[in-house]
Amino acid sequence: MVKNKDLLIAGNWKMNGSKKNLSMISLLMKYIKQKKFKNSEILICPPNTLIDAFSNISKRSKLMIGAQDCSDKEYGAFTGDISPSMLKDIGSQAVILGHSERRQYQEESNKLIRSKAENALNNNLLTIVCVGESLNQKKSGNTLRVIGEQLKKSLPDKIKPNDLVIAYEPIWAIGSGLVPNNDDIYKVHSFISDKLKSRYGGKAKKIKILYGGSVNKKNASSILSIDYVDGALVGGASLKFSDFRAILDFCN
Ligand code: 13P
Repeated sequence: MVKNKDLLIAGNWKMNGSKKNLSMISLLMKYIKQKKFKNSEILICPPNTLIDAFSNISKRSKLMIGAQDCSDKEYGAFTGDISPSMLKDIGSQAVILGHSERRQYQEESNKLIRSKAENALNNNLLTIVCVGESLNQKKSGNTLRVIGEQLKKSLPDKIKPNDLVIAYEPIWAIGSGLVPNNDDIYKVHSFISDKLKSRYGGKAKKIKILYGGSVNKKNASSILSIDYVDGALVGGASLKFSDFRAILDFCN
């Protein structure tokens, strides 16, 4: 058990899942009810196709449902896009923005991510902005410089600290089974915390900093115990109930 921490454990399902997974949400709800989490928050971000159904099942429970992206526009001729208010309309309470897969495959820039984050925060969504370095950037000793730049350019000036979350996800750790050592995670998280303090002052205390990248039932307890780690953004291990439950078991 990770003591004295208000943790946020978020599952990013990426492009996985179908209506068959409704039963997993029911199992999760049952477990959350039994466990009576006092301090921890739990979020599942399925593909948009499942948000409505999942949020209907989890209404009035501690389980939050969120999305994996949103538009920086409110409405209009933007084929294929979905706005924060539309996400709210189908029961989404949160959104992940600037995931490295979107930065890479959709070529999303810091500027666009910042604009999306402003829109999401204006619509009162819990807004998780992801940052993280590539393996080459790590090898060349540029991790902190890269993270500093991403924070500076992808976060809005005006924030609601309770609604903003940062996720540190080293790109090389995502889906690879590789995880930075605890010292390295501590260094990056304390660096992020310092940057947030110098930009937002006292408000920064309320901004949670999650770690993401190959979190699983074996390493979760050790990672979640590191100072400045306020939770986890879990990919693969959030897709199977028993794996995700094993991570939640460390929370109180
Ligand atoms: P994995 O946990 O599968 O490494 O994915 C991490 C991630 O990208 C979460 O957003």
